[in-house]
Amino acid sequence: MIIAIDGPAASGKGTLSRRLADHFGLRHLDTGLTYRAVAAALLVKGLPLGDEPIAIEIAHNLDLSQMDKTVLSSHEIGEAASRIAILGGLRQELVELQRRFAETPPGAVLDGRDIGTVVCPDAAVKLFVTASPEARARRRTDEMISKGVDANFVSVLDDLKRRDERDSQRTVAPMKQADDAVLLDTTEMDIETAFQAAVEVVSRAKDI
Ligand code: C5P
Repeated sequence: MIIAIDGPAASGKGTLSRRLADHFGLRHLDTGLTYRAVAAALLVKGLPLGDEPIAIEIAHNLDLSQMDKTVLSSHEIGEAASRIAILGGLRQELVELQRRFAETPPGAVLDGRDIGTVVCPDAAVKLFVTASPEARARRRTDEMISKGVDANFVSVLDDLKRRDERDSQRTVAPMKQADDAVLLDTTEMDIETAFQAAVEVVSRAKDI
């Protein structure tokens, strides 16, 4: 059983994916972390983000169990991840790694931008989780403030819009709702309501 969850930054797809994995007894992979881990390694080494052969080598040696979400969640690493995500060869390397994870029993929930379209086109369930840019920026700002990080709604909103644009306009595997994905717009939902809606979609698909 593979569940593919795609959507833009701060749509709630990460929390939903983790909770769905727990609920259905599946493993979970936040594929954004794989792009972030490669970007972080390039930044630490002071290497240019466009150096694809080195990025591929880092990806080839990536250990999924060593990716630390807390370390990788910074704004700087997110921006760098989105810049290297345009590299086709790097994506191919990461997609192979992500597919191996997905295909290991008992199955998995993967979240990202291209899971339903490229990584797992045959997934049993596909969700595209989104929310208005303003709702996402509000959530991201509140989350940062709650962690004691200085955050400004307008600049968070600008950043999100820029990242959406880059992720949806790139030529290789752009962020896009798969034709057979169910759209879940969480603009007016709290996380509990969104979770119940997602469980219903998965349960329906399991019965088919
Ligand atoms: O989801 P997260 O914000 O951690 O992702 C960081 C960046 O990695 C995204 O902005 C996107 O450019 C890239 N990404 C991707 N494909 C995925 C997951 C993430 O291109 N499946």
